[in-house]
Amino acid sequence: MATTTQAQRGAVLLTGAAGGIGAATIRRLDALGFQVFAGVRKSSDGERLQRDISVRITPVLLDITDDASIAQAAEIVTRAVGETGLVGLVNNAGIIVEGPVELVPIEEVRKQFEVNVIGHIAVTQAFLPLLRKARGRIINIGAPTGLVSFPYLGMLSASKAALESVTDALRSELRSFGISVSLIEPGAMQTEIFQKSAASSQQVRQQLSGELLQLYAPALAAVAKTSASQQLENPDVVVAAIVQALTSRSPKTRYFAGRGTRMIAVLRLLPDRARDGLLLRALGIANTQPVS
Ligand SMILES: NC(=O)c1ccc[n+]([C@@H]2O[C@H](COP(=O)([O-])OP(=O)(O)OC[C@H]3O[C@@H](n4cnc5c(N)ncnc54)[C@H](OP(=O)(O)O)[C@@H]3O)[C@@H](O)[C@H]2O)c1
Repeated sequence: MATTTQAQRGAVLLTGAAGGIGAATIRRLDALGFQVFAGVRKSSDGERLQRDISVRITPVLLDITDDASIAQAAEIVTRAVGETGLVGLVNNAGIIVEGPVELVPIEEVRKQFEVNVIGHIAVTQAFLPLLRKARGRIINIGAPTGLVSFPYLGMLSASKAALESVTDALRSELRSFGISVSLIEPGAMQTEIFQKSAASSQQVRQQLSGELLQLYAPALAAVAKTSASQQLENPDVVVAAIVQALTSRSPKTRYFAGRGTRMIAVLRLLPDRARDGLLLRALGIANTQPVS
C-alpha cells in the first residue's frame, strides 16, 4: 500500500538531509508519501535517518563539493527511478562562514562558495535529466542574507546572493521544460548550523594574528551577544514552505518562511546608508569603536 502511494507522489532528492531543516523536511515528505532520496555525507547518518524516520527513506552518499560523489549519486538515483524521473530536487545543504571580510581566510571563502553555490549548481546539472522526465521542481534554500548583506556574515551573504541570482536565471531557462524553480528564504531557525559555524570560526581565528583580531574584538563581541539573544524558530515553518513549493498547483518563485523575513526584503529597498545604519543598530554595533 505504502509503495503504491509513494509511486503516485513521485521521487524527491534532498541534499544535506542529515539534520536540521533537511531531516525535518524528509520526515514530512516521507509521511506525505514521496519516495525520498536523502543526500548524506556519512553512511551512519543515512542509517540513523532510516532508523529514526522511516525505513522507506533511501540514503544516498552525496558530498555536493565532490564531482565523483555527485556522479555516483546521480547514477544510483537514475537506476532506482528509471524513466519516471524525479518530481523534486531540494538543494538544502549549506554552511555558514562567519567573520569580518578582512579576517576570513581565502580557503574559507572558497569553502563557503563551494558548498552554498557551486555545489548546488553541480547537483542541479547532474539531476536535471531526471527532473525533465517528470517535469519536476527545483527548490533552492536561500536566506534573507541573500537579499541584504549582513556585516560579519559577508561571505554567507555573498553566497546566498549568488544563489538568488542563479535561481532567477534557472527559473526562466527551465520554464519551457515545465520545471518550476522556487527559492525559500528561511528566517533564523533552531538547527545546529550556528554552533557548527561558531566552532569552525573559533578554530580559524586561532590561526590569525592577535593584533588583527584585536581590531575587531569589540564588534565581534557585540555581534556575538546580539546573536545569542536571537530567538530561533522551529524549522517546521520552512518545511511547510518546501512542501508548498513541491505540491502547490502554481508554486511561487519565493517563499518567505519565518518571522521578519519579509521585512528584510523591504530593507533592500532603502538607500544604502539608511540600511547600513539600521543593520548596525540591530546588531548592536552602531556605536562600537575599534580598539586603537
Ligand atoms: N538555520 C537557519 O537559521 C537558516 C536560515 C536561513 C537559511 N538556512 C539554510 O538552510 C539550509 C539548511 O541549514 P540548517 O539550518 O538545517 O543547517 P544544518 O543542520 O547544519 O544542516 C546543513 C546540512 O548541510 C550538509 N552539508 C554541509 N556541507 C555539505 C556538503 N559539502 N555536501 C553535502 N551536504 C553538506 C550538512 O551535512 P553534515 O551533517 O554532514 O555536515 C547538513 O546535513 C542551508 O542551506 C542554510 O543556509 C538556514
